[in-house]
Amino acid sequence: MSPSAQEDDSILPCHVGIIMDGNGRWARARGKGRLEGHRQGAEVARNVVRWATDLGVKQLSLYAFSTENWERPRLEVRGLMSLLAILLPKTLPEMMESQVRFRILGDISPLPNSVRKAVKHACEVTAHHTGIELIICLNYGGQQEIIAAVRETLQWIGSQTDQQQALAELTPERFRQMMWRRDIAPLDLLIRTGGEMRISNFHLWDAAYAELYFTDVFWPDFSKQDLQQALDVYASRERRYGLTSEQIATCMDKEA
Ligand code: IPE
Ligand code: IPE
Ligand code: MG
Repeated sequence: MSPSAQEDDSILPCHVGIIMDGNGRWARARGKGRLEGHRQGAEVARNVVRWATDLGVKQLSLYAFSTENWERPRLEVRGLMSLLAILLPKTLPEMMESQVRFRILGDISPLPNSVRKAVKHACEVTAHHTGIELIICLNYGGQQEIIAAVRETLQWIGSQTDQQQALAELTPERFRQMMWRRDIAPLDLLIRTGGEMRISNFHLWDAAYAELYFTDVFWPDFSKQDLQQALDVYASRERRYGLTSEQIATCMDKEA
């Protein structure tokens, strides 16, 4: 039997990101409207925070609404926004109880007032919490995040006396410091439910070296066992970052 991810902290991903996909197809298969799928999906999102906490994950990011999702039918967008506005205050007591630190990745400025207020409140009152960090990716796009970092980098370079030197010294690590994710751990494991094998503009920068895990399970059917299975698969992977297996083994021997 393969060791469970829970048995060894070193093979646990610190930051797990989930593309919660398949709500619409889940609903259609049951003869229901898409919003019913989103409602069910929201309940699973609520549960997955608890499951991830139980399994020892430190940071969990959930893709709730992409920059491209604005193009969906107006009623669906409106339904998703009111779901968020209702769900956030409803889940706040459990976030307080289990010390969840609630955060947002994305540009919340174009969101309806009710959602912005709920989001800001949840961020403020959980800011000092020491439990799992829950990062909701809301109106999030990986390309948009990179463009925002380019803008900040240009400003920073403009403020330097030796601009040629500053540009020459720009490394991926320095650039990441300009990104919204600057104080979020690099993504270790990216899970996508719903059977599609694409990244859909999620965490583009950190997708460079995240482990990818795809499952056909529709998000509203996702269970704690499914999360455990993803963590077990992660534990069985060898992250080589361009090195050879032999080099990795030598590093591990030195560390032991
Ligand atoms: C993901 O489920 C939820 C959001 C994008 C908000 P979908 O709504 O994309 O479900 P499918 O892919 O149509 O089944
Ligand atoms: C990605 O799912 C966005 C979220 C889960 C919030 P989509 O269903 O929007 O992605 P595509 O359209 O299949 O690429
Ligand atoms: Mg989808």
